[in-house]
Amino acid sequence: MAAELIDGTAIGKQIRGELKDEVSRLRARGVVPGLTVVLVGEDPASQVYVRMKGKAADELGMKSDTIRLPATTPEAELLALLDRLNADRAVHGILVQLPLPRHMDAAKVLLRMSPEKDVDGFHPVNVGKLVIGDPSAFRPCTPAGVQELLLRSGADPGGKHVVVVGRSLIVGRPVANILMQKAKGANATVTVAHTGTRDLPAMTRQGEILVVAAGRPEVITGDMIRPGAVVIDVGVNRVEDPKAEKGYRLVGDVNFAQAVEVASKITPVPGGVGPMTIALLMRNTVQAARQAA
Ligand code: GUN
Repeated sequence: MAAELIDGTAIGKQIRGELKDEVSRLRARGVVPGLTVVLVGEDPASQVYVRMKGKAADELGMKSDTIRLPATTPEAELLALLDRLNADRAVHGILVQLPLPRHMDAAKVLLRMSPEKDVDGFHPVNVGKLVIGDPSAFRPCTPAGVQELLLRSGADPGGKHVVVVGRSLIVGRPVANILMQKAKGANATVTVAHTGTRDLPAMTRQGEILVVAAGRPEVITGDMIRPGAVVIDVGVNRVEDPKAEKGYRLVGDVNFAQAVEVASKITPVPGGVGPMTIALLMRNTVQAARQAA
C-alpha cells in the first residue's frame, strides 16, 4: 500500500496562520517584527529561497528587508554590515543566506551576529543553548520544521528510534539535538548516520522514523527503509531533465517512487520540508521581536 503523504505546504500554512494573530498583537503594542535577509552572490537556489522568505514575512505583516551584495564583497564589508544590523532596533532577526562565497569564513560571519537576532540558530551561543535545553535558544528552522511535520502528522517521535542520515550543522546535528531532548514532542532515541557509517542500509533499516539530509540525490532506496517507517526527506537536488520546462527537476535524497511503497508516511519533494523552513523562520523572527519587546 502506498504511504500517506505529509503535506508540508498545508502544515506550513497552518503555522503561518497561527503567527498572524501574534504579529497583530505585537503590532498593536507598536512592535513590528523585522527580518533582514542578507544574500551575497548570485546562487540561483539561494535567490529563490530569499525571495520566498521576504514574501512570507510581508504576508504576515512583518517588516522585511533583503540586502543583496555582489559575490566579490570583501568579508570585512559583510562584518561591518552585521555590526550595523546588530545595532538597529527595528531589526529583530538577521539571516545570512548560506552558502557564502569561498573567500568568506562562514563561522566568523555567523559569530559576528548578535545571538539575540540569530533567527537561523547557527550562532554558537544558540547551538550551545539548544544542546543544553535552554528554551530561549533559536532553533534552526529546517530541523524545527521536521519536528513540527512529525507532530502535526501524528508521528510523535517520543520513545521511537529516529535514524538521521547526515551530520551537517544546518540539519543533521540540530535535528538530532532537538529530537533527543527530554521534552514533549521529542524524547526519541536518535542515531546519526553519515558518510563514515560502515553499513548504512543496516542502520537506516532500524529507523522507525528516518530523517534524510544527506545532500545527495535519491541515495536512500526502498530496500534501505524499514517497512512502515515515517520518512522525512530534507534533500532538495536539481537533476537535469531535458523534458522539464526549466531543464531540471527537483528530487529529494530519497528515491520517492520506491520509498512510497515501503513507508507508512512520507514527505514529497517539493512540498514537504521546504515550506516548513520558511514557516519556522517566521516563528523565530516573531520570537525575536517578542523577546526584544
Ligand atoms: N542555506 C540552506 N539552508 C539554509 C538555512 O536554513 N539558513 C540559511 N541562512 N542558509 C541556508
